[in-house]
Amino acid sequence: METILVTGGAGFIGSNFVQDCLNVTESRVVNLDKLTYAGNLENLTSVKDHPRHVFVQGDIGDRPLTDKLLGQYKPSAIVNFAAESHVDRSIHGPEEFIQTNIIGTFHLLESVRGYWSELPEQEKERFRFLHVSTDEVYGSLTAEAPAFTETNPYAPNSPYSASKASSDHLVRAYYHTYGIPVLTTNCSNNYGPFQFPEKLIPLIVMNALKGQSLPIYGDGKNIRDWLYVGDHCTAIRAVLAKGSVGEVYNIGGNHEKTNLEIVHTVCDILDELAPDSSGAPYRRLITFVKDRPGHDHRYAIDATKIAGEIGWTPAETFESGIIKTVTWYLENLTWAENIANGSYQNWIAENYEDR
Ligand code: NAD
Ligand code: TYD
Repeated sequence: METILVTGGAGFIGSNFVQDCLNVTESRVVNLDKLTYAGNLENLTSVKDHPRHVFVQGDIGDRPLTDKLLGQYKPSAIVNFAAESHVDRSIHGPEEFIQTNIIGTFHLLESVRGYWSELPEQEKERFRFLHVSTDEVYGSLTAEAPAFTETNPYAPNSPYSASKASSDHLVRAYYHTYGIPVLTTNCSNNYGPFQFPEKLIPLIVMNALKGQSLPIYGDGKNIRDWLYVGDHCTAIRAVLAKGSVGEVYNIGGNHEKTNLEIVHTVCDILDELAPDSSGAPYRRLITFVKDRPGHDHRYAIDATKIAGEIGWTPAETFESGIIKTVTWYLENLTWAENIANGSYQNWIAENYEDR
């Protein structure tokens, strides 16, 4: 049986990917996750007893552990999602971002180097290390600039994006120097089920339902290119199967929206699906708050390469994806409540207090 090692598989995208892999492929999935504040075993309830799912709590930077897992399960592919992923947290405290995103990725690569170099020739050729990265490494676009292609120079602006950029460079170097068959994907903002409610879309859904203010940083005109998480998962599987070793693939949803448009859309869907008992529209809760320092104005992905070389395009429109997403949160309020009961509340106080 083929084995994939997924890191960060208890987080938002990772847990969607683990479920997708178990449903759609015959592979065994070894899921290595440290279970930081963002890792949540409730994201994996549907695959808890799945015979091809092995969950291991641990750190990608723990070399003895990763050496052991690689030797024991002999994966033919690794998909590296594990990271600190929230820009605002990287502004409040960058250290964990350096630790996991840069040093953790380095240790994982070293472990992989040792494992891969001992593989028989055929397995060496078949092996893939897929590093999941972000469009934020390319920096910020003006309103008129063309979307990011894979050859855009790196210009990260936040501690988060700088740490991801650094890890991308390490991955690239391990291909060029040691020949490890790597693939890197840089994708745009994801949304969908199981996203931690510190990120824009789930935060807006949860605050609206509680009648709390909907904080919009600055003027709300910042633009992101939104990708439904299920589409991201199919893209990663497609790149794993058909991507050329050493190459980078940008993944985007072709749905550029301002933050204000996003919040308006979410409010309008909630007005339909879960109207406020007062009958008043949720848009009344919108509050403009102090901007994020160094807030990137616009991200947009040019996904021509992955479409042309691999044949992947997103299946979901923004309109279909956002209805699915809001519906999912409404049907899984206990999931969100269980998070809200924990230390997540401390974060809310820290981030929004002075805004
Ligand atoms: P997330 O924060 O929801 O999940 C990250 C997961 O990694 C958590 O389960 C956490 O416990 C785990 N983790 C953290 N440090 C670890 C460590 N040292 N060892 C093992 N596990 C560790 O993040 P996400 O939104 O699912 O993002 C996944 C990946 O995709 C990240 O690499 C992120 O940079 C990238 N990405 C995310 C987006 C997005 O919109 N969410 C967009 C582009 C790229
Ligand atoms: P976020 O979900 O944090 O993703 P990223 O910063 O990686 O793009 O934020 C998406 C956009 O929404 C970003 O421009 C910041 C903005 N935002 C708000 O306006 N208010 C909020 O409370 C949050 C969390 C984000």
